[in-house]
Amino acid sequence: MRASLLVSLASGALAARPFLSEPDTGIDAVLGDTPEGSLPDLDDLVGLPDFEWAARRYLPLANYTYYQNGAAGEWSARNNLEVFYRYLWRARQMTDVTGLPDTLQTTILGHNFSAPFFISPCARGANGHVDGELNLVRGAAAGGILYITHRVKPSAYSSYTAEELFAAREEGQVIFQQLYLNTNITEDTETIRRMENAGADALVLTIDSSAGSNRHRAARFGAGSANTQLTPLTWDYYDQLKNITSLPIVLKGVTSVETAKKAVEHGAPAIVISNHGGRNLDGSPSALEILLEIHDQAPEILDQIEIWADGGVRYGGDVLKLLALGVRAVGIGRPYMFANVYGTEGVERVTEMMKSELIIDAGNLGLESLKEINSSYVNWTPNHWLG
Ligand SMILES: Cc1cc2nc3c(=O)[nH]c(=O)nc-3n(C[C@H](O)[C@H](O)[C@H](O)COP(=O)(O)O)c2cc1C
Repeated sequence: MRASLLVSLASGALAARPFLSEPDTGIDAVLGDTPEGSLPDLDDLVGLPDFEWAARRYLPLANYTYYQNGAAGEWSARNNLEVFYRYLWRARQMTDVTGLPDTLQTTILGHNFSAPFFISPCARGANGHVDGELNLVRGAAAGGILYITHRVKPSAYSSYTAEELFAAREEGQVIFQQLYLNTNITEDTETIRRMENAGADALVLTIDSSAGSNRHRAARFGAGSANTQLTPLTWDYYDQLKNITSLPIVLKGVTSVETAKKAVEHGAPAIVISNHGGRNLDGSPSALEILLEIHDQAPEILDQIEIWADGGVRYGGDVLKLLALGVRAVGIGRPYMFANVYGTEGVERVTEMMKSELIIDAGNLGLESLKEINSSYVNWTPNHWLG
């Protein structure tokens, strides 16, 4: 009797569980009379999910859908958001947290940044704003954070060439260039030379898309996969690439401890633990779950290589949970794309909000410095009621 009651309570909770990309925190009550096709005042937005709300009502549905969609039934995209709430904090009270704001800075591949989060590479900036990726370059400069620009023109997925984007940098601004390669060494060498000449500070090779993607929601609008060919991207090819450039080649899209170990063996300077925002292989675990696997099976990797991670990060606490697992820097994708509907100002605002939430959450966790965060600040026994 008791067991069946528990089962029915649990299934009721699951049935009622909302898709958390736009949690109900009262935005409809306050801004719901904003006419469709126009934007509320930037000052009225209070957190990263608000940008999705604003962009959904403002953009043509096809443009919004390209940003929002995930692969297949979008289970990984949902899990990326929910996973953070399966693990609750173990805060320490009675500490002096007043120095926290001065401890946000970090280095990524030896470059200095104002915070341990960055703008993940996302295609089709022009879906959100006529100035597309230029706003992300400028917004990243204003916030002192890293922008990893996605592959650029002649790809149809960008409105700018690498030369145009890198020319928009502020003096001294560091930008990394994401690449998809077609594994033709002559053509790929040419692409890499071009990125070197344009001024990329590092290359980020995406390795999770060797077979394209299966995006039902986007396919309805003809805005499907970014890469639909089968590509023979192998470790041998990575070794070849390393010989043709002195730029670091980071590997983005690691989703298993096996691949993380191989990346160390092949001398990668950093890896991005990422399931591509749940946009490629539905059923891929979230970054947090992959990191737990690394902690469990090969914790030495955390000291051997820089680990970055992204997927579903919407709050300061989400960044902190990934930092607690030893990540050096955390990527944010969709919120910056949605914020770009406001232009550079929107991009800047996301960075300000995230810095402010980081300080609040780290302070309430009892950290005197952000550098103190470690895995003991989270209870890693999953709590299935919240997420
Ligand atoms: C609209 C969109 C386009 C993307 N395009 C690329 C891309 O061209 N290359 C790539 O490596 N990742 C791409 N990604 C994945 C992001 O780099 C990142 O892994 C993901 O967005 C993180 O999840 P989040 O959006 O929940 O923050 C894209 C993501 C989105 C939302």
